[in-house]
Amino acid sequence: MNKANLSVFASGLGSNLLAIHNASMDKCFPGKLQLVICNKICPAFELAKSLNYETKLISNLNIEKFEIVVHQELIKKKIDLICLAGFMRILSPKFVSKWKNKILNIHPSILPLFPGLNTHKKILFNGIKIHGSTVHIVNEKLDSGKILGQFAIPVKHDDIVFLRDNIKKYENMFYPEVIRKYIWTFIFKKDNFTSNKLRNNKEIIFSY
Ligand code: GRF
Repeated sequence: MNKANLSVFASGLGSNLLAIHNASMDKCFPGKLQLVICNKICPAFELAKSLNYETKLISNLNIEKFEIVVHQELIKKKIDLICLAGFMRILSPKFVSKWKNKILNIHPSILPLFPGLNTHKKILFNGIKIHGSTVHIVNEKLDSGKILGQFAIPVKHDDIVFLRDNIKKYENMFYPEVIRKYIWTFIFKKDNFTSNKLRNNKEIIFSY
């Protein structure tokens, strides 16, 4: 089966990286993870190495130089799609336009609510009873690109760690599915994508 070459950019714990890795182990998944980019030493970096991925740690360059090096690596590996997964560096408009429609991000809020940092804190501070995440195409403006999918869950506990971990649990199911759909629909341009993995239930709504 023809597969799209994927690169994951990560700076954090790596749960979404692991989820993409796990999904890609399925022979029907239309993407193959070829390159992991990290901008600091972090659990995601260690995870990528332990999974034997080609992993680049690029930590001490300004954004312009960082992007030149990253661009070359992406070209070398013939990357078709970049998946940001907790990547804590803002990419420049120049880089984003070079990779137009080829960068996805997962953001832990129901955009356009709460772009930027500290989303879980803002949810709890405002007493909001529904929270979720969004997968979107990255454009020149932070957390503002076309929305590809969202899920929503009820907020039942006033506990930020519980909320963050609960959101991640669903992100880890959701992000690979949206990537799968995006590859089929926008890279392979086939309309035979069938969504059968995620079922809405009484408390969680997945829409993609
Ligand atoms: C996720 O919650 C994602 O939405 C946000 O950063 C977090 C990364 O988590 N962009 P992990 O490193 O994938 O565990």
